[in-house]
Amino acid sequence: MDIVWHDHKITKEVRQEQHGHKSCVIWFTGLSGSGKSSVASELERALVQQFNAKTYLLDGDNVRHGLCKDLGFTADDRVENIRRVGEISKLFVDAGLITLSAFISPFRTERRLARELLEDGEFIEVFVDTPLSECEKRDPKGLYQKAREGKIKNFTGIDSKYETPENPEIHLENGKQTIQESVEQIITYLKKHNYLA
Ligand code: PPS
Repeated sequence: MDIVWHDHKITKEVRQEQHGHKSCVIWFTGLSGSGKSSVASELERALVQQFNAKTYLLDGDNVRHGLCKDLGFTADDRVENIRRVGEISKLFVDAGLITLSAFISPFRTERRLARELLEDGEFIEVFVDTPLSECEKRDPKGLYQKAREGKIKNFTGIDSKYETPENPEIHLENGKQTIQESVEQIITYLKKHNYLA
């Protein structure tokens, strides 16, 4: 391949020094309606307001409006979706940002590949563990009902599989705890492992 990697003068380490904190990706995985986006959004607000952190939130619904708008929900398309998001997350970590990535990311292999793009300690997997029954009860976008009626195919948890994380860094029991408790649990982890100044 006639492509040569360029090393730039301003490195990730320089950017982290400038921002006053480590960069990493906080990777939220869980069913549709589990609360990934809600927790990620509140966490980002806390990181910015309380810690003056430099952050960016990548969210499934939003990314699928642009970068991934050519992709649907077949297994192959989800694999490609998570591949792209993994690469983008890596760029944002290189940019020195605390990157919050909230995607169903249903398959273990793709989550592992996203982790392997990064250095040790840069990938923090957060399992937003809300039971299917609770997600279906919430059904904030009415998608579960449509899936049950057969109007949406390949819906996660209904006719498309979700592989639960085996060893996530953080496990949120989102059916039982509030969004604020989840945010505090993640901040406690980040402080304990010296991600924040
Ligand atoms: S994936 O599996 O990681 O590629 O999915 P993701 O990019 O996170 O997109 C999930 C959001 O897309 C909407 N949606 C569906 N989800 C699951 N299955 C099917 N078939 C589907 N069709 C549309 C849904 O709003 C998801 O958003 P969240 O925030 O997870 O509820």
